[in-house]
Amino acid sequence: MLAAAGSAVGLGNIWRFPYLAAKDGGGLFLVLYLILALTFGFTLLTTEIAIGRKTKQSPLTAYGRLNQKCGFLGVLACLVPMIIMPYYCVIGGWVVKYFWAYLTMGGSDASTDGYFGNYITGEVEPMVQMLIFLFIVAFIVFKGVDKGIESFSKVLMPILLLLVVGIAVFSLTIDYTDAEGVTRTGWEGFKIFVIPDLEGLTVRKFFNVLLDAVGQLFFSLSVAMGIMIAYGSYVKDDADLPRSINQIEFFDTLVAFLAGVMIIPAVYTFMGREGMAASGPSLMFISLPKVFTSMGVIGNVVGGLFFVMVLFAALTSAVSIMEAVVSSLMDHFHISRTKAAAIETVIALVGGVIVCLGYNKLYFDVTLPNGAHAQILDIMDYVSNNCLMPIVAIGTCVLVGWILKPQVIVDEVEKSGTKMGRKRLYVVMIRYIVPALLLILLLNSVGILGIF
Ligand code: ALA
Repeated sequence: MLAAAGSAVGLGNIWRFPYLAAKDGGGLFLVLYLILALTFGFTLLTTEIAIGRKTKQSPLTAYGRLNQKCGFLGVLACLVPMIIMPYYCVIGGWVVKYFWAYLTMGGSDASTDGYFGNYITGEVEPMVQMLIFLFIVAFIVFKGVDKGIESFSKVLMPILLLLVVGIAVFSLTIDYTDAEGVTRTGWEGFKIFVIPDLEGLTVRKFFNVLLDAVGQLFFSLSVAMGIMIAYGSYVKDDADLPRSINQIEFFDTLVAFLAGVMIIPAVYTFMGREGMAASGPSLMFISLPKVFTSMGVIGNVVGGLFFVMVLFAALTSAVSIMEAVVSSLMDHFHISRTKAAAIETVIALVGGVIVCLGYNKLYFDVTLPNGAHAQILDIMDYVSNNCLMPIVAIGTCVLVGWILKPQVIVDEVEKSGTKMGRKRLYVVMIRYIVPALLLILLLNSVGILGIF
């Protein structure tokens, strides 16, 4: 369960959540996200962990065990982490680079203009760092869940939490006076992050923020990518599932919230509201080093600590992404962990190299159906997150909500004797609300439903 919490907490919480919250203006995104986590996230997380424990199978084989006609969902659920793994390692490599920059040069270069762009378009360095990240992950997975993943998570999760709390508290105390003499404080930024600003809110904007929050929840909780089924299959029958599920949900949401407290007040203080809105996905790699530099000498230490923490979080998540594929290969082809891990390492390595080349030799720019500009990394992210994950989740809802009936999951969750909370909510969510919302998300992301 600690490993599952480690899986959930990753780049999603620390890189993706703050930039989306900043882009969407703070409070409204946060409130919608929290409501969704308690309803939508809880439903998918419960379902997937219960499917794993009930079938004792990896994602590839679990769906077929529940219903022979639904085996294809297992193939899709296994395909998602296979696609995510290479580009997750590339981003993990970027984090290695920044961590190294702060360790060796105090991060002074990292905040200069063009640093990030020059780095990712380089032909050798991003590949080397991607390989370092991949090999650390592969080493842990080779050792197996008990010896590798769990002991790794046991050490890293508490350290991670301490670091996030420390930097978040620091972020609230800062202030900055810009060239025009305007002083902004971390506390003001915090208020923007937590208090919804409904002025000028349109239906279109509301749905945009809602869809951002839904997509973020997917990525952040590691659902619809086979991971929670794989980890659920390792949970013992007498384990208190309701308690563990609540803990994962709570921990993941807490770290995302704290990451927001850590980053958004700082970005607001040093760059103002315009800086928040304009930062985008590069927030962590471009804007944040500038923030650290503005803090003076202390910023180098804070920056170093920050990237160590992101590296920890990214590693535990990448381990789980790889484990979902490795356990699937082991269960389906009856091969050893070593062999399965070697196969997935080669796939991730080849994919990772292609993703790196996407910024130089294989560079192209396409427009996705949702209007976003994309390179190879973005296309892989789009196909896995915006297309395959909603399909897997909708299929899971239909299977559990209508074919098997939700009681099967409720019985599994309550097997150890603890009553499942939010039971009625679960049934309504899995049968109606989650599939309906996901269908809207899917149709919107593939450009069929362009209303938002
Ligand atoms: N849930 C993992 C993350 O947030 C994949 O990065």
